[in-house]
Amino acid sequence: MSVPTTDIPEEIASVNLVDPKSYLEHDMDAYWRRMRAEYPLYRHPALDGNPGFWVVSRHADVMALYRDNQRLTSEKGNVLVTLLAGGDSAAGQMLAVTDGQRHKDLRNVMLNSFSPRALAKVAERVRYNTRRLVSEMIRRGEGDFAAEVASVIPLTTVGDLLGVPASDHEFLLNLTKSSLSSDEADQAPEDALLARNEILLYFSDLVADRRENPQDDVITTLTQSEIRGVPLSDQDIVFNCYSLILGGDETSRHTMIDTVRTLSREPEQWQRLRDGSVALETAGEEVLRWASPVMNFGRRALVDIEVAGGTVRAGDIVTLWNISANRDDTVFDDPFTLDLGRHPNKHITFGYGPHFCIGAFLARMEIKEMLDALRTFSTGFELTGEPRRIHSNLMNGMSYLPVRFHPDEAGLATLDD
Ligand code: HEM
Repeated sequence: MSVPTTDIPEEIASVNLVDPKSYLEHDMDAYWRRMRAEYPLYRHPALDGNPGFWVVSRHADVMALYRDNQRLTSEKGNVLVTLLAGGDSAAGQMLAVTDGQRHKDLRNVMLNSFSPRALAKVAERVRYNTRRLVSEMIRRGEGDFAAEVASVIPLTTVGDLLGVPASDHEFLLNLTKSSLSSDEADQAPEDALLARNEILLYFSDLVADRRENPQDDVITTLTQSEIRGVPLSDQDIVFNCYSLILGGDETSRHTMIDTVRTLSREPEQWQRLRDGSVALETAGEEVLRWASPVMNFGRRALVDIEVAGGTVRAGDIVTLWNISANRDDTVFDDPFTLDLGRHPNKHITFGYGPHFCIGAFLARMEIKEMLDALRTFSTGFELTGEPRRIHSNLMNGMSYLPVRFHPDEAGLATLDD
């Protein structure tokens, strides 16, 4: 059976999911609602020289495809830009675009640095940095939460973990900001490519340095790691550093920004957080569902696969839409309501299955500390202007969030204890 590709209504057909501008110009909640209901397997047309691809929007289908690394491959790319270009030059070396036994082995090596035990030291720093940055901003009263807090915490965290000197954090932040998304509507694709290449070059130097001067950081651990008796090559390490810095920065940053914007409009939920009637962990899961900072990931089919009553053919590109699955009302009661006490909460913000986000523990820690700092040091906050959305077909978020905070003096006083 195949899925009808003719007679697609204008509201669906007019949305070009490759074009970053679409996400700002269309009512995407309405779009996804209709896709889930009527076109759960939709054939996105070939446009502007790009090939066509499948769009999967229901929670159950997205989960099933994430889990299936036998019939789907990540080695032809896992994001639209590389899938549409025909492949990823880091395939077989960078964790997210590696399949099979090599993926398992590499993941085990990298998990050594991401287990809760290995992250205990990082946890203390995340808590310290978050409390300091959030309280300083609240004391200042007003500012851009995106630039002053949310941009700093994730990059500092991953940077510290990897062993990036603090003096280089800002340089890397500027590069990560233009690698996957852009502040500008018409950023040339070459700019993103240049930024990504600069990150790779930066890490080549750092890896060479750590081979000479080992330190207590992830890069050094990777330089000393082996898979089946063979040490990781410099290129293996560089690709994975690149993936960690990109994977760990923008995702958490957009979740934090979205959380402050959302809570500024949800006084009842904010109150529940303040008075402790919802657990921080539960609230953290709901803001992760709500923000859905990575809109989609993708795969290429290795064989024909039945999905949502249709057939994806071997060789086809399939995109999995977390942002849609996270609002699927067959899984979430009242999905368009923020409920910080939501339980269970089977969001797929971190993906699912063999490629489930390796940084999920770290990201959850960051979000939890941010929520805790906000509720301890502030009685409330409101926006003082319009947020600015980013342009991306991968990430969902904002690059500017002007906020006025009301301090909780008693909470702030506990800082000096
Ligand atoms: C994988 C989302 C934070 C590193 C993934 C995947 C998703 C995701 C959806 C699955 C990709 C796929 O199936 O192709 C997020 C979100 C985050 C976050 C929403 C924050 C809110 C982090 C952090 C790090 C990280 C903090 C590291 C410092 C990675 C890596 C993978 C991955 C290396 C590849 C895992 C594999 O292929 O086995 N992430 N991530 N992420 N993430 Fe995250």
